Amino acid sequence: MEIFDAVKQKVEEILENAENLTGIGENDLQILKEKKDTLISWGDELMDSFYKTLLSYPKTAKVFEKVPVERVKAKNKKWYEEVVSGNLDKNFYEFQFLVGLIHIYYGIDNNIMIFMAQHLKSNFLNKAAETFEPEEAIKVFKAFSKIVDFLIALTVEGYIFTLREALMDIAGYTSGLVDTMMNMKLEEIYKILKEELPERN
Ligand code: HEM
Repeated sequence: MEIFDAVKQKVEEILENAENLTGIGENDLQILKEKKDTLISWGDELMDSFYKTLLSYPKTAKVFEKVPVERVKAKNKKWYEEVVSGNLDKNFYEFQFLVGLIHIYYGIDNNIMIFMAQHLKSNFLNKAAETFEPEEAIKVFKAFSKIVDFLIALTVEGYIFTLREALMDIAGYTSGLVDTMMNMKLEEIYKILKEELPERN
């Protein structure tokens, strides 16, 4: 299968999982659309806090030796505005795979992406709680949260996808062999952990 088709298939598969497991869909987009202007007005504050945190931790600050923080911040703000405008189509979801890959390319580990997604969602929740009635704040937060999680899911899956592609396309392994190697390592690590870690009840 061509790589572009494989990516599209992967995104479709993840979107289907998200729809069935989180209920992400039109209702979420509708609630964002209704509140769009207010949500967009939070952009600068959310981005300031996001990049202040990244710059104050040496491990994440070093990324910005390679690329100016203002450029990254502007791109993330545009992304935020697109998300909260609620005008998301299939192309947006497919594009998120590329956004995820860009982070992998810069060597940003998945755990950092997950923690920073938490940072963004947490500040978003504070703003929503300050601004809207509780019921509305919850709805707006859930909608935003589902889309952020979708990007993070694609980033995590994009990492595994790329690693598998590298093993199959560059090292020449078959998909079955990659699975077998994975299972062999799993068993080995599992056994060691069972031996080394104290028993828990
Ligand atoms: C919830 C988490 C994050 C979101 C939503 C996000 C969003 C984005 C978006 C939309 C882009 C632009 C992609 C494009 O070119 O179209 C981007 C690029 C980038 N992000 Fe993030 N990001 C997140 C986390 C992080 C973290 C944790 C770091 C650093 C530790 C980071 C560093 C970068 C860098 C270096 C680029 C590439 C900029 C460039 O080459 O112009 N991002 N991000």
